[in-house]
Amino acid sequence: MDLMNYSPLGDKKNSDFFEEYLPRVYRRRADAGIDEIVGNMAGVVIQVDNGDAIAYLAELALMGPYRLTDSRLTATHRIFLLRSRPEYPRLIVLEPLSPDWLEEITRWNRMYPLSRTKPNARYIGEIYKTSSCADVRTALEPQNIRFIYEGDQANSFYCSDHMTFSFLSDFTYNRVGYVDVDLDDLDALGFRERFTPAPDDLATIDAAAALQTEHGIDGLVLGLDHMATRILADEREDAILEYLTMVPYYFWGAYNIVEMNSSTNVTRRPDVGDDRISPARVFTANNTPSFVNSFEGLPMPTEDFVRNFGRRMHHMAYAVVDGDVAGEKNVDYVVGELNELGTEFLAHVVGECKDEPNLKQIFSRASVYSLLITEYIERCHGYEGFFTRSNVAALTQAAGEAERYEHGHVFD
Ligand SMILES: [Fe+2]
Repeated sequence: MDLMNYSPLGDKKNSDFFEEYLPRVYRRRADAGIDEIVGNMAGVVIQVDNGDAIAYLAELALMGPYRLTDSRLTATHRIFLLRSRPEYPRLIVLEPLSPDWLEEITRWNRMYPLSRTKPNARYIGEIYKTSSCADVRTALEPQNIRFIYEGDQANSFYCSDHMTFSFLSDFTYNRVGYVDVDLDDLDALGFRERFTPAPDDLATIDAAAALQTEHGIDGLVLGLDHMATRILADEREDAILEYLTMVPYYFWGAYNIVEMNSSTNVTRRPDVGDDRISPARVFTANNTPSFVNSFEGLPMPTEDFVRNFGRRMHHMAYAVVDGDVAGEKNVDYVVGELNELGTEFLAHVVGECKDEPNLKQIFSRASVYSLLITEYIERCHGYEGFFTRSNVAALTQAAGEAERYEHGHVFD
């Protein structure tokens, strides 16, 4: 794919600043070797509060493809490694050993009215495969990307011989990590102290996975399709350019969702074929900041969310296999079964998949453990696009209404 001659899709207009720097970022990335030494996404990292990990792993086992394969202990955390298909990214859950664990995430969560009750719950970021963590730092540090060194963080997960993480981005409050050994090999990463969850805890997770199988959901939910982060209106272009500085993705395009005063901006891995191997990273931001929006009084669920929870990952989307079960589309079937098992969804499945290519999507209610919404997305009849404007508008609206409904009008 020729990034320099690619025309992004969608109708969201970018500034001259963005148009000038996007090709410069691509060119510098190639010159600095990032395109060569950084590859596909190896995993995503989520931290939950002390005491929440087992319940969260059970929730993941019921709702998606991720299964526990290994667990380790560090001086400060339990590390849980989960896997879907071998070629798809891993999911790592971090759980602080102490209920009093305090780090910058705790402080940032405490600054926002709706994330205070789960002060250590945060989607941390993605980890990318690299041939050398040292080479990544050498390439990116002159570009003012900051990395964690020993002693910077009490949590040793963020700085080991074979894995390195950036500082939390001021635009997204997420990190980017890089790993130069197999992410499945926790010994090679230096996390050598094995720990096995209690039999009751393992039974809880297994029971959730068994329910998923009994209900015929397990084969239908594939790996991660995309993750969508919510940021402030005026930081949209900075956040995208910063991310594209650090990872070998490209700006696929952006849709203006006028009626929700927001835009959805998509970055993807070029030439990967199957997005699930290296999922798309989506950025959503208001078109105008909240105080300016007050002139028009449009709904603005995106910036409401950021003001309520801080900049953070809003949802993870799982791809649903395209097809039908007993006369309904797979996504409708999955949602119906999960609903029966107690999973709550926001509004209903949006999009129509009668006979022509299209996509159907739905949001779950946010997890009480990770604060993340789970999206299910089925691309029907070989739909080749990535998003439709109308679906994004409907989903954005549903998420905003749920937030108001669940938390009252106080933080609207
Ligand atoms: Fe999404």
